[in-house]
Amino acid sequence: MLKIGVLVSGRGSNLQAIIDGVESRKIYASIELVISDNPDAYALQRCKRHGIRHSVLRRKDFSSKDEFEEALAENLKEKGVELVVLAGFMRILGKSFLRHFPNKVINIHPSLIPAFQGLHAQRQAVEFGVKVSGCTVHIVDESVDAGPVIVQAVVPLLPDDTEESLSERILSYEHRVLPQTVQWFAEGRVEVDGRKVIVRGAEYGTLPVNPRLEKF
Ligand code: GRF
Repeated sequence: MLKIGVLVSGRGSNLQAIIDGVESRKIYASIELVISDNPDAYALQRCKRHGIRHSVLRRKDFSSKDEFEEALAENLKEKGVELVVLAGFMRILGKSFLRHFPNKVINIHPSLIPAFQGLHAQRQAVEFGVKVSGCTVHIVDESVDAGPVIVQAVVPLLPDDTEESLSERILSYEHRVLPQTVQWFAEGRVEVDGRKVIVRGAEYGTLPVNPRLEKF
């Protein structure tokens, strides 16, 4: 079974979607450790409720970004973590962390990258006036929200949309594409070749999610 670690900073609804996937056995993985950089993250309450090992590592308790990242990686490796999932983790990770998990860190971003990278992606989409947006699960590299794309889901924007209404529409897909991606890793089907990521055996050419979701 794939051993995963999840990094969070806040609400943790994507963490919850993964927990639900594991508990319902749609995801063949075990959540070995959840780490939050924010002691008040609601995600930690979810861990308590589900008996999931969790800890808090605050950036300000370390003298440098590198030391913080080394500590994060050490904690995850100690638990045998093979795949790291960023689920609303609000920090940019650099080489000190990523070198420990090459092509094994994934992130969910609420836009069709490379559009609307960084903070408030949904607000950026509403303000720009685009007619479709969505979410992306990608491999994390040293760029910000720009690593190799694994899967994307498309949602429409409506004339009356606000940041909140669009966020909600996108979130319902986030809660499906992220657990599905974890399961693709658990099945050993994710192949990364430079910027090109292929999920072996997946059906490509489908909308609103490409490649097609299988279990979620
Ligand atoms: C999600 O919109 C995710 O795409 C973004 O941060 C938000 C986290 O939400 N990276 P939650 O903490 O998973 O509820």
